[in-house]
Amino acid sequence: MASLSLLVNDRQRTVDVAPDTPLLWVLRDTLGLTGTKFGCGMSLCGACTVLLDGEAVRSCQTPVKDAVGRRITTIEGLAAAGNPVPAAWVEEQVPQCGYCQSGQIMQAAALLSKTPDPTDAQIDAAMDGVICRCGTYQRIRRAIHRAAQVKGGAR
Ligand code: FES
Ligand code: FES
Repeated sequence: MASLSLLVNDRQRTVDVAPDTPLLWVLRDTLGLTGTKFGCGMSLCGACTVLLDGEAVRSCQTPVKDAVGRRITTIEGLAAAGNPVPAAWVEEQVPQCGYCQSGQIMQAAALLSKTPDPTDAQIDAAMDGVICRCGTYQRIRRAIHRAAQVKGGAR
């Protein structure tokens, strides 16, 4: 065990965990941020996606020690930070069962931070690793375009 300091959703948190613990379990079990989901545990589905310094990472395969000194953003912090993606998701009524959707939203936020007005092809390429078993991909595309319009490319 070690005492680690983490910056989560702009809040400094201290956790006592083994440094190799996957970030996903620290977020969910230690910090109670259950919006980030467990799907495969093997970097295959994207359900556990969070942002580290704005980059999308699979938290199931990211040791918590690798997040020390970096800015961690989860689904709980994204809307509060004024990111337009969560609202666009609501407006386009993207979710079906909802299980994959926090991962989808975080991946989309990472895409838009680098590519403010992506094409369909860029969206498909960027979102490829986040699986939706309900097949909401068309609505995901529409929501990403909507969020891009809201932002007007200014990032
Ligand atoms: S739970 Fe992390 S990629 Fe599936
Ligand atoms: S909304 Fe059900 S898995 Fe994506």
